[in-house]
Amino acid sequence: MKVLVVGGGGREHAIIMKLAESSHVTELFCAPGNGGIAKYAKCFPVKATDLEGMLKLAKELAADWVFVAPDDPLVLGMADLLRENGFKVFGPSKAAAIIEGSKVFSKNLMKQYHIPTAAYEVFTKADAAIEYIKSQNSYPTVVKADGLALGKGVIIAQNEQEAIDAVHSIMEDKIFGESGSQLVVEEFLTGPEVSVLAFTDGKTVCPMISSMDHKRALDGDNGKNTGGMGTVSPNPYYTDTIAKQCMDEIFIPTMQAMNAENRSFRGCLYFGLMLTPNGPKVIEYNCRFGDPETQVVLPMLETDLMDIMEATENQSLDTLPMTWKSGACACVILASGGYPEKYETGKEISGLDAMGQCADASVYHAGTKLSEDGKLLTSGGRVLGITASGNDLQSALDKAYAAVRTVSFEGAHYRTDIGQRALAAK
Ligand code: AMP
Ligand code: GLY
Repeated sequence: MKVLVVGGGGREHAIIMKLAESSHVTELFCAPGNGGIAKYAKCFPVKATDLEGMLKLAKELAADWVFVAPDDPLVLGMADLLRENGFKVFGPSKAAAIIEGSKVFSKNLMKQYHIPTAAYEVFTKADAAIEYIKSQNSYPTVVKADGLALGKGVIIAQNEQEAIDAVHSIMEDKIFGESGSQLVVEEFLTGPEVSVLAFTDGKTVCPMISSMDHKRALDGDNGKNTGGMGTVSPNPYYTDTIAKQCMDEIFIPTMQAMNAENRSFRGCLYFGLMLTPNGPKVIEYNCRFGDPETQVVLPMLETDLMDIMEATENQSLDTLPMTWKSGACACVILASGGYPEKYETGKEISGLDAMGQCADASVYHAGTKLSEDGKLLTSGGRVLGITASGNDLQSALDKAYAAVRTVSFEGAHYRTDIGQRALAAK
């Protein structure tokens, strides 16, 4: 099988490495890919959001499968276009991807089908949103832009002024672009967060091993929200009892709700959960693998990923046994200084071997490129996801951090406390 993976971050690198283990895969391609992925798959400079360009590339490569990893091409309908042209695709249709593409859609879905989530109201006018915020008079409160905003469309306002500023900046200054033409104001929830990615074919939901993201830029969960500064799996807060409750109250009801809406979901459905004092609630859905969750979830998968992709596409997940490794996995993100705000790129990375890897860890490249003379340079905010497995979380973290300390570039920044909250749970 020849497989084309769409995307170019750490998640896509982890997907490529797992596909490379598959007995069915003969050739791997990636578009656009990055400097680290290029060591393992031939990369093509087609943007992930270029639907026609990707179709043309898939045809030229005579790909058997296309794995659409990022949210934006899925929300734009790339999976539909490829399926209409005879390709096998991993990724949901446009109709199903709206579960991530519109927070208004997903909140209304949860309300209609009684799936536990934060209480909320939807607004299309700033004045009405502000009036509602004042009448609630409860802080913190959460203000979310409706559409995709690179995982950053959420503002947690600590007081009335911050909430009013959030509404103005989303609806009038359009800080998240057109995704801010509608907004959701919702109740602030508390409790440990858990990410659960699940394969679903519209008939069966197969949750993967759980994980925990670390979204803030700085130690102690301080600083700005980022795309994720590190992850661990499994998530110790996600006990078997909670997993069963989530299956019954959230996962299966969500799959059934999407079927009832004629938006059957085939692919990876991501449940961002908060374990509140009143039970698990959905914070967000994503229509795809999480980043950097994938970097700690896929290394734990024993089953051939291509077999799962086949079963997802032909609706036979119920007959496929899926197994996971024991132990734990940890990923620490090495980011450019200043990320998620202004940062510089083009810095030479030292400490990596010819394959872009380092000893005793897997290095998933997120924002790297190869210079003309073959050097690895930084090219994004999140640069590398340095990942290691171990018999337990402490040993996985020790290995990952030992590797992190051998890799460097000017201005490199990482959190030193990835996994500490998970260790404290035990
Ligand atoms: P999201 O982009 O929806 O994942 O939100 C980013 C982060 O904001 C989440 O991971 C949570 O930490 C936080 N967040 C979002 N919604 C809420 C909420 N209703 N209550 C508390 N925290 C929230
Ligand atoms: N790690 C969160 C996300 O992928 O959106």
